[in-house]
Amino acid sequence: MALGCAMRFVTGVLVLILVGAFAPAAECGDVKPRPPNVIIFIMDDVGMGDIGCFGNDTIKTPNIDRLAKEGAKLTQNMAMPMCTPSRAALMTGRLPVRYGVETPGRTRVLFFLTAHGGLPSSETTMAEMLKEKGYATALIGKWHLGITCEEENSCSDPNSQGFDYFYGHPLTNLLDCGNVSTIFDAWAKARGFYTKMKSSVVAAVAAAFLLKGMGVMSWKGVSSFILIALAANGLILLSAKATSLGCVMMENRKIVEQPLTYDHLTERLHSRAIHFMENHQHQPFLLVMSFIQAHTELFNMDRFRHHSVHGRYGDNLEEMDWSAGEILSSLKKLGLERNTLVYVTSDNGGHVEEFTDEGERHGGWNGIYKGSKGSTWEGGIRVPAIIKLPGVIPPGTVVSQPTHLPDVLPTVARVTGVKLPTDRLYDGRDLIPLLTNGSSEMTREFMFHYCAGFINAVRYMPKGSDTTYKLHYRTSRLVPGPHGIEGCFDSFLCQCVGPDTDQHDPPLVYDLTRDPSETKPLDSKDPRVIDVISKVAKAVSGHQGELPKPRDPWSAWFNNLPRPWGRPWCGNFPFYTCTDPYLEKFKSMKTKN
Ligand SMILES: *[C@@H]1O[C@H](CO)[C@@H](O)[C@H](O)[C@H]1NC(C)=O
Ligand SMILES: *[C@@H]1O[C@H](CO)[C@@H](O)[C@H](O)[C@H]1NC(C)=O
Ligand SMILES: *[C@@H]1O[C@H](CO)[C@@H](O)[C@H](O)[C@H]1NC(C)=O
Repeated sequence: MALGCAMRFVTGVLVLILVGAFAPAAECGDVKPRPPNVIIFIMDDVGMGDIGCFGNDTIKTPNIDRLAKEGAKLTQNMAMPMCTPSRAALMTGRLPVRYGVETPGRTRVLFFLTAHGGLPSSETTMAEMLKEKGYATALIGKWHLGITCEEENSCSDPNSQGFDYFYGHPLTNLLDCGNVSTIFDAWAKARGFYTKMKSSVVAAVAAAFLLKGMGVMSWKGVSSFILIALAANGLILLSAKATSLGCVMMENRKIVEQPLTYDHLTERLHSRAIHFMENHQHQPFLLVMSFIQAHTELFNMDRFRHHSVHGRYGDNLEEMDWSAGEILSSLKKLGLERNTLVYVTSDNGGHVEEFTDEGERHGGWNGIYKGSKGSTWEGGIRVPAIIKLPGVIPPGTVVSQPTHLPDVLPTVARVTGVKLPTDRLYDGRDLIPLLTNGSSEMTREFMFHYCAGFINAVRYMPKGSDTTYKLHYRTSRLVPGPHGIEGCFDSFLCQCVGPDTDQHDPPLVYDLTRDPSETKPLDSKDPRVIDVISKVAKAVSGHQGELPKPRDPWSAWFNNLPRPWGRPWCGNFPFYTCTDPYLEKFKSMKTKN
């Protein structure tokens, strides 16, 4: 018995060496084929118009394009309009509204390291699911799902959410992390906020003097009045700068770089990813490579400066594609390419309102799709996606049916042989039937497009019809910006509710199959359209009936304030700075060469 077992083990090792695709079962039973590794690339704010194989003929993304040729391209893949909810959906297979990561009134993404409202520990992430199966798990790059703990043993950080290893930026790249501007500046300029602040101070001073003239106020009163007005404005500006305190790099739960520098950042990230794959080549692994690009502040290695014909944004995309290529070629060198599922996507559409003061476009491009990041127009939520699994998904497959980010988890569960928990509802569907048998219909009829906790739009795919309808209950208002580009230029970031939006009753209905750019709404008096509207209304109320009570929006809002206490720091008073040891390594390698 024992000898047979040992023999089988030896055979297993031989097979492993020969084809690199099989490993002996750990408990020395039957030699089972090793379940596939999973690599997920998440790009940041990259739009449908940014990638070569999605129709961009001037941006060079050969590595991503090759994946599409070897696997499947999903041309109607939907995300949420903003990073935090989108990433939560990808990690859990469920819409974030089900677990409070999307709540009306909540700031839509986490801005501060200490913000509560991250991914709750009650969710089972893809990493937790695969860890159960013996996978090694790593997340490299951007997290943006919180690092605080609601209670002990109930934390949101990557290590608490199933990742053995985390190296990256716990929040998101921001203008504030660079030297140019801050996210507050960009928003304040679009809103004319600085002018309003100045006039509020002038008005306060004038009022104080008026009251003095009327004999109602003393000079002491006047000076206090003016001081309070100035202090209030100063406080706003100061807290607006507090976002930059979150610009750090972490390794697991420790801050290893403060403040974040872009120096060798791309190489630092992918070399950690490659190191992880090499260390775990004899065991199935999950690698989530979550690029910090192409979000502003844009950054590049010297060799990618002026690499593209689209300025710094294009340089960013091409550097990111190269970085993905480095990881993919390592995978190939390790002999694991044939047994690895690779998925590529972006967390939301391009942010078309991003322009520098000099007028250079620094945001993503959504191609023919209307609107921008932050909105539920197609440009905000339709994102490029590619999935490759050799031997399962036929090369060159193109799927045009609607899919969305929550589908990734059930698909990964299927190919790795994991059973999903049955105690909760999943919004995602296993994509394998669709990918391997295009004729098979998705059983999904409706897809709800949330915007800050509101269902602003719904997709409807009537059974037995090839038409996809999209209904808008509320839309972000688009106005022309530089070069005639349409976007939410009045608010810098598209809004879900309030003055920069338009409500529609009856809803706007588009036939996306024939009008993907959402140019001409269907006639709402047409009986066919009336029927569509009523079917969708019924589905919305059914869906809402199955949701938990949302988190209290006010407490959620207060939770999103900066709290310098209770967050990790590195270094010592008063500067709290530290330098990443990996950066030192790259710098010394450079001087040696
Ligand atoms: C390709 O991408 C760049 C950068 O976003 C953009 O400026 C350009 O318009 C895109 N080209 C096409 C054909 O979409
Ligand atoms: C900002 O500028 C300083 C000085 O030029 C530089 O040392 C630092 O790395 C820059 N920071 C970023 C994030 O680019
Ligand atoms: C493929 O789709 C067709 C049509 O929906 C169905 O009849 C068939 O059983 C499917 N085949 C597989 C292998 O799922």
